[in-house]
Amino acid sequence: MDTRPVLVFDSGIGGLNVLRELRVLAPDRRFVYVADDAAFPYGAWDESALSDRIVELFGGLLAEHDPVVSVIACNTASTIVLAPLRAAFPGRHFVGTVPAIKPAAERTRSGVVAVLATPGTVKRQYTRELIRDWAQKCHVRLVGSDRLAGLAETYMREGRVDEEAVRAEIEPCFVETDGRRTDIVVLACTHYPFLVNRMRKTAPWPVDWIDPAEAIARRALTFLKGDEAEADRDGPDLAIFTSGTPPRATARLLQGFGLAT
Ligand code: DGL
Repeated sequence: MDTRPVLVFDSGIGGLNVLRELRVLAPDRRFVYVADDAAFPYGAWDESALSDRIVELFGGLLAEHDPVVSVIACNTASTIVLAPLRAAFPGRHFVGTVPAIKPAAERTRSGVVAVLATPGTVKRQYTRELIRDWAQKCHVRLVGSDRLAGLAETYMREGRVDEEAVRAEIEPCFVETDGRRTDIVVLACTHYPFLVNRMRKTAPWPVDWIDPAEAIARRALTFLKGDEAEADRDGPDLAIFTSGTPPRATARLLQGFGLAT
């Protein structure tokens, strides 16, 4: 019997997309969801300050919850903090989330793809290297959005979103060059899949939107000792917000996800 949880970490509610997929694959597992909302949004943080902050946070989280595996369900964090986390906590398992540039390069028919992410992820060397290693034959448009993660948070809490703002944020993804145009947009921030229907609605033409949540969940599953039949939850799934108690609308959303605060 294995009662250790899986820890899912993000700056806010974006990682709930990944939690949803994890639960499909590991329904008997207990989950601890951690949102570093005191530091949201991560997109604008300086790299080393953010990395130090997350490593320090994990010191406490690992000691308190002893997870089988920690899923960093955040591209902005994963592109800088995976190596420092593995170095600081040898023997612990971490699964990251990185922009799905390789699958996009394999699937595109037009050869024109866009990567929609936070300004932090767009700037990272890690992201540039993924393009160099996997998408050299493609035209890749990197689009850093200042507003989409915040819009997704509001949408999930309040059920409404400024569609014109969504349209303006995704617009640079749509490129026409030499008679070819964008046919894939990589959602390289875990908050964005919550807005995908609005993106579809406001996009100038239809494209495939790649959401890597399921692939991340599958990767995490490989650390769950092979047999999920061994899992046995010994309590409710928990949500921890670094600012303290989440606002009432967020608490309602978490309840809807079956998370106790
Ligand atoms: N959910 C985070 C990601 O996947 C970013 C949101 C933020 O800016 O904090 O990149």
